[in-house]
Amino acid sequence: MTETQNRWRIPLTDVVVDDELVDAVMEVVRSGWWSMGPRVEEFEREFAGFCGAAHGIAVANGTAALHLALLAVGCGPGDEVVVPSLNFVAAANTIKHTGAEPVFCDIVGPRDLNLDPADIEAAVTPRTKALVVLHYGGYPCDMSAVDEVAERHGLAIVEDAAHAPGASLGGRMCGTLGQVGCFSFFANKNLPVGEGGLMVTDDDELAARLRLLRSHGMTTLTWDRHRGHASSYDVVLPGFNYRLDEVRAAVGLVQLRRLPDENAGRARIAARYREALAGHDGLTVPFDEGGGARVPSHHLAVVVLPEGVDRAEVRTALDEQGIQTSVHYPPIHTFSAYRADSRRPLPQTDAVAERLLTLPLHGRMTDDQANTVVEALLQTL
Ligand SMILES: Cc1ncc(COP(=O)(O)O)c(C=O)c1O
Repeated sequence: MTETQNRWRIPLTDVVVDDELVDAVMEVVRSGWWSMGPRVEEFEREFAGFCGAAHGIAVANGTAALHLALLAVGCGPGDEVVVPSLNFVAAANTIKHTGAEPVFCDIVGPRDLNLDPADIEAAVTPRTKALVVLHYGGYPCDMSAVDEVAERHGLAIVEDAAHAPGASLGGRMCGTLGQVGCFSFFANKNLPVGEGGLMVTDDDELAARLRLLRSHGMTTLTWDRHRGHASSYDVVLPGFNYRLDEVRAAVGLVQLRRLPDENAGRARIAARYREALAGHDGLTVPFDEGGGARVPSHHLAVVVLPEGVDRAEVRTALDEQGIQTSVHYPPIHTFSAYRADSRRPLPQTDAVAERLLTLPLHGRMTDDQANTVVEALLQTL
């Protein structure tokens, strides 16, 4: 356990700090080249290769990835983008920043917290331009049904794969199932860097556009000019500075090599929770363990509390025993900034919103720690 997590006997998540990671950072610091350069390029190549995608484009964070993906597929004023309300707010915020409007769709239910493809279809209007698809908690959603809706209505699919590095469906990695897949490397993610993000795509034109948007629409980079590959540049569209730096890319490269072990450790603890909690005292453990065509990345260990249980009391009781919990998520349509955008009934989302509880989960959690969480939760209920 790291220093920052000491307040908790069992923190929600944790990071490994070791010599390999420190050496990777120090090597970049000593190299004297800190802004986007060779390590970013290597990280992009390695991550895209890991996903089986043709292109990887690294950015400052997952929110930047979503913003650029939405712009690159053509979202703008007058458009609507369908997105599940049970989600982190980044997708809705970035939809707004393109000038488009978010239209919230429902989830399947307490056993499947992923978006409901039938409700996506119901949310589509002539103004709908794109769908933002979340693989909630790292559990791949029903992409064949989503694809059918997208094809029927000519919609782009942007995957919010922030929870899903290493998750796959039918042998294809999450992030490669739509036009653009967006990843986050925030400190609590399966591949933690601190801040960082990356987009993958197989589409050459989209990749070129994403690269331009990432760096002010400039046709060459400082790194290209430093290497003598270019001496000037043009600006071909109004872009952003959403670049990733070399230190973070170096951390990302180390973490990418560790991702399979991280995900395997998470899978072990998630299975332990499921075995001990599913059906006990009216608890629902959403999804299944995966297997066959569906390989989850186990980003979150979420349970749905029995109806009528006071979640705040449960959280306080666990907190008093040093067990950190969280809620993923307060649905976006319930936030002040988004109430006006809440134009559709979302009965399944509303039914679970007050009952969701996220338990500690990371790749190095021990069975003993998982058992402590299980006992404390069952006792509290
Ligand atoms: C589902 C989801 N989408 C998007 C984001 C945004 O990523 P970031 O924090 O890297 O901007 C996050 C994480 O924070 C997330 O959990």
